[in-house]
Amino acid sequence: MESETFIEKLLVVEDDQTVREYLDALFSSKGYVVRTASKGEEAIDLLSKENFPVIIADLMLPDLRGIDILDYVHQKDLRSAVLIITAYRSMESVIEALRHGAYDYITKPFTSQILLHRVVGAMEKVRMEKAARDLSSRIVYATEEERLRISRDLHDEIGQSLAIMKLTLMAIRNKLINNSTEDIISEIEGLSSHVEETMNEVSRISKDLSPSYVIELGFSQALRLYLETFSKKTGIQVNSYLPETMTFQNPQQEIHLYRIAQEALTNIAKHSSAAVVDIRLRPLGNNLNFSITDNGKGFDISKGGKVSGIGLIGIRERAAILGGKVWIESKRGHGTTIRVEIPYGLSKSSNVA
Ligand SMILES: Nc1ncnc2c1ncn2[C@@H]1O[C@H](COP(=O)(O)OP(=O)(O)OP(=O)(O)O)[C@@H](O)[C@H]1O
Ligand SMILES: [Mg+2]
Repeated sequence: MESETFIEKLLVVEDDQTVREYLDALFSSKGYVVRTASKGEEAIDLLSKENFPVIIADLMLPDLRGIDILDYVHQKDLRSAVLIITAYRSMESVIEALRHGAYDYITKPFTSQILLHRVVGAMEKVRMEKAARDLSSRIVYATEEERLRISRDLHDEIGQSLAIMKLTLMAIRNKLINNSTEDIISEIEGLSSHVEETMNEVSRISKDLSPSYVIELGFSQALRLYLETFSKKTGIQVNSYLPETMTFQNPQQEIHLYRIAQEALTNIAKHSSAAVVDIRLRPLGNNLNFSITDNGKGFDISKGGKVSGIGLIGIRERAAILGGKVWIESKRGHGTTIRVEIPYGLSKSSNVA
């Protein structure tokens, strides 16, 4: 799932040619992509074709008024911040503009610094709003992905086992009907081992979902069992350096660290093509240091977590809830390390939500 990249694009709607050219030059020199329009119609034509996070519009235009541009932005749900330029100090026209959804207004004459400052603010607001929208759609998407994963687990692992058991039962039934009972014992033994596998699988899926499992078993033990299954399923060798037992100040710490490990390992299985993973938990001063290192292909950190998924965001969120920090080191071809440091041992009431 990819979201559109944010381009710092600006539309200047101004009938006065000198002002228009001045603003074009000013914002172009600051790295903005600038388009200009001298009439309202021209502006609306541009808005119908291109996406502008910020629009600077004169309130009085030869054909349309600035207000009509505001209405167009609103009707089409363009989500642009419109900065109205007005030559009048009349509060009424300003109030009207704000009522029609203007982001801000500026009265002529203005200095370039003030206008720049307002545009930077407007651009940031639109960028943040877009980031928030992208994030919530990624969360919705991730929830669906998670459901898909659970449904696949149920279908592939449990569904197949149950189908085999049903077939075995049918075979036993037929043998009983035909009185060929000699190898029924081995059929029943096979069935019994299938039942056992299915039970284990059900328990794995339910453990995977339940947070209380980690608390009941303890972080180290729960993680060790998880690593065992992970290694078996993926063929990736895991070297774990975990304390035998570990006393946490708060169950939240155990749960969040466990989920961080799960997410990091899922990423390793999904993206890294690694052969070996080192996972380490140790107290360091007043902190707990948790690191997961793989020897896989690595990735470009500047891109990771921004476009595709929410796994890395989730890791950062969980560390932040525990009052800690995350460092991700990765280089293409040189593996990845995720290091999490959380406060530990300072006081019984750490800043846990
Ligand atoms: N251990 C790793 N090795 C190589 N690339 C990685 C590793 N961990 C993360 N990445 C890269 O960082 C990106 C972001 O990871 P993140 O967990 O945030 O999203 P995702 O795994 O793509 O999706 P999601 O976790 O939401 O299912 C991945 O798409 C991948 O390109
Ligand atoms: Mg992921």
